[in-house]
Amino acid sequence: MKSITLRNRIAVPPMCQYSAVDGAITDWHLPHYLGMARGGAGLVIVEATAVSPEGRITPGCTGLWNDMQAEGMARVAAAIKSAGAVPGIQIGHAGRKASANRPWEGDDHMADGDPRGWPTLSPSAIAFGANLPQIPAEMTPADIARVKADFVSAAIRARDAGFEWLELHFAHGYLAQSFFSVHANHRTDAYGGDAEHRGRFLIETLQAVRAIWPEHLPLTARFGVIEFDGRDEETLDEAIALTRKFRETGLDLLSVSMGFSTMTANIPWTPAFMVPIAERVRREGGIPVATAWGMDDPADAERAIAEDQLDIVMVGRGHLADPHYPFRTARALDLPKSSSLLPEQYAYWLSRYPGPQNGESID
Ligand SMILES: Cc1cc2nc3c(=O)[nH]c(=O)nc-3n(C[C@H](O)[C@H](O)[C@H](O)COP(=O)(O)O)c2cc1C
Repeated sequence: MKSITLRNRIAVPPMCQYSAVDGAITDWHLPHYLGMARGGAGLVIVEATAVSPEGRITPGCTGLWNDMQAEGMARVAAAIKSAGAVPGIQIGHAGRKASANRPWEGDDHMADGDPRGWPTLSPSAIAFGANLPQIPAEMTPADIARVKADFVSAAIRARDAGFEWLELHFAHGYLAQSFFSVHANHRTDAYGGDAEHRGRFLIETLQAVRAIWPEHLPLTARFGVIEFDGRDEETLDEAIALTRKFRETGLDLLSVSMGFSTMTANIPWTPAFMVPIAERVRREGGIPVATAWGMDDPADAERAIAEDQLDIVMVGRGHLADPHYPFRTARALDLPKSSSLLPEQYAYWLSRYPGPQNGESID
């Protein structure tokens, strides 16, 4: 894609680690990302990284709104690249889902008056509900302009830090998805109403980032094309129409995901359940696609690629369970040279499976 060649079609999707301090990486991040890059994936996308302090999901989320954060991220990008994977990063703004506790500390909005919390922003003053009850402020035109500019600044820092693949977070009920969502956007100005106007913030953000992101590097987005809320055909049609516009605006690939904008969704969790949806977006939207969500079984992944349903397969939790997931998979499929997916410090030994040959010693 563009000037980038992935060594295979397995990608690590962005996964928040909630382990940053003031948006900057800590000792947790480097081995985490380097470990997965060493495991053999073609692409490793760094977690949702906030474009501004109030755009973080939790106080532990990474950011790219200052140069100190960018210096840390440059080390992460270089580490991923040194292990043969392409370094990618997702940038985003959490909107009305911001100011939350880490998942393992409650996964809910921080209590009113908690000094670690902050006021949230969204297209309309409508709370997500349930564990996220904070009512966000309705964004003014000046807020909208500022957040678009924040996306551009973060993209410039990502570019200068050495990332070669940028993913805009337009999914999962965060700010951009909220503009698109009928559940979150009740605006009556140019950024609300019909699907074209609900898509406007996303198109304008993409346009602004495209202007500074190098033409020879892939610019992608993760977008929730379905909510599983009973309005699915309509949402999907609107999302595909917007995807065509993304394509015309210079998007190179869409990571097809869900909206997570409403508590009333009924998601059909089964292995590879997003593949037919992603395939439809690929065909009707005219754009290369990736998807995640239960793609761990190599047979599902292999079929989706062989049958031209997906261009890239994303495996998230499989990589947390085993950072050498691609190597394991290649071995399970009995592919030749599976150990070449690993760095030579490991490959030399693991290619001698199940043990040393006669006369060899392990020293
Ligand atoms: C710990 C964790 C953090 C995640 N953080 C993000 C994120 O930062 N951005 C995002 O788009 N998705 C995020 N996700 C969703 C994953 O990218 C992925 O879509 C999901 O885990 C499903 O894929 P899997 O079945 O292979 O795990 C996260 C998932 C996990 C498990």
